[in-house]
Parts: sequence; C-alpha cells; structure tokens
Amino acid sequence: MEDTDVMIESKGVTRSFPLGGGREIEVLHGIDMIVPAGKLTILKGRSGSGKTTLLNLLSALDRPTQGQIYWGEKEIGKATEQEREYLRRKDMGFIFQAVALIPVMNAYENVDFGLRLAQTTEKREERVKECLELVGLKNRMNHMPHMPGEMSGGEQQRVAIARAIAHKPKVIFADEPTGAVEIVQQKS
Ligand SMILES: Nc1ncnc2c1ncn2[C@@H]1O[C@H](COP(=O)(O)OP(=O)(O)OP(=O)(O)O)[C@@H](O)[C@H]1O
Ligand SMILES: [Mg+2]
Repeated sequence: MEDTDVMIESKGVTRSFPLGGGREIEVLHGIDMIVPAGKLTILKGRSGSGKTTLLNLLSALDRPTQGQIYWGEKEIGKATEQEREYLRRKDMGFIFQAVALIPVMNAYENVDFGLRLAQTTEKREERVKECLELVGLKNRMNHMPHMPGEMSGGEQQRVAIARAIAHKPKVIFADEPTGAVEIVQQKS
C-alpha cells in the first residue's frame, strides 16, 4: 500500500442524537473527509464540536444517521456488527481519553489481551515486552493499572498506547491520548 492511498473516506456523514420528546440534535452535518494511509491526521475543533462523535463513526463504534463511511471499498456503516468487531480488533488500535484497561489484568496481560483478540500469529511474549519497552514501562509489567500506588495516570495511558500498537493495526485512533502523559519516547 502506498503512502497516498485512502484509508478511510466519509461521504456526507450526518449524526443526530435523539433528545427526547421527538426532538433531536444534529452534531455532524455532511462530513466529507479522507484519512490517508500512513499519515497523521488531526481533528481540531472547540469542545463539543463533534470530534469524538466523528472518531466513533470512523472507527466503527457508532453508525452515521446519514451518509457513508468506507474502509477501502467496504462501506462499514452497512457492515454487520460481527464484521465491524473483527475490523476493530484486527485493523484498529484505540487510545482514548478514558483509558479502558482491564482492571484485573496487569500491564503485561492487558497488552497481551489485545494481541489475543487480534489473533496475531506473531510471538506474543516478545511483542508485548517490545511494546512495553517502547513506552518505557518494561519494569512495570507486573503492575496492576488501577491499583493505588502501582501506576500513575500517565503510566496507565502508556499501557493503553502499548496495547493499541501491539497488533500492528492499520489505523490507530487516538482521542486526546496524551493528556496525562508527559513524554512518550518513540523509537522509530
Ligand atoms: N449520545 C449523545 N446524545 C446526545 N448528545 C450527544 C451524544 N454524544 C454527543 N453528544 C453531543 O454532541 C456534541 C459533540 O460531542 P463530542 O463529544 O463529539 O465533542 P468533542 O468535539 O469531542 O468535544 P471535546 O473537545 O470536549 O471532547 C456535544 O454537544 C454533545 O453534547
Ligand atoms: Mg471529545
């Protein structure tokens, strides 16, 4: 795949939410955009402008009220929930503001869990350690993310980053991913 390939495309995407009493709020209206492969795409806008709503649509967590979202040739708005889930596990990595780590698993197990969901054929142990090292947490592998005193907010977010990249997804969706992270050292 070349750098300039289109990874995701939205056409005329609208998202409205019911407000009760038959009223609704239209948060997104006629969004046409292209997310190129292999590039960093940034959504900018004031609080409440619909960035998270759009991210949820592009990443198949939510469906548009109107319009289409394509992953390559595939229109994911029309795909079954099973197909969408497969796509999310295999081709996407998520780093969200509310870090969604599994509380009963330590850092290592959280990253490994993502790899298992993606049914990766890679040697898992090596890859988990490599990713935790990349985010500077190799010596925190056995720490429980939510246990008081075991991990700071930024460290939890770095575990989430390690988990998001471990299965080498085609796209990483990040919604204000570094709010609690001071510095993420990235080796290329
Ligand atoms: N499920 C929902 N039901 C009703 N309104 C919603 C729902 N989800 C989002 N909204 C509304 O849509 C608007 C956009 O929300 P969204 O979270 O996408 O904004 P944002 O750009 O991500 O903001 P922020 O920068 O604060 O994170 C807000 O006014 C919000 O109240
Ligand atoms: Mg938001």
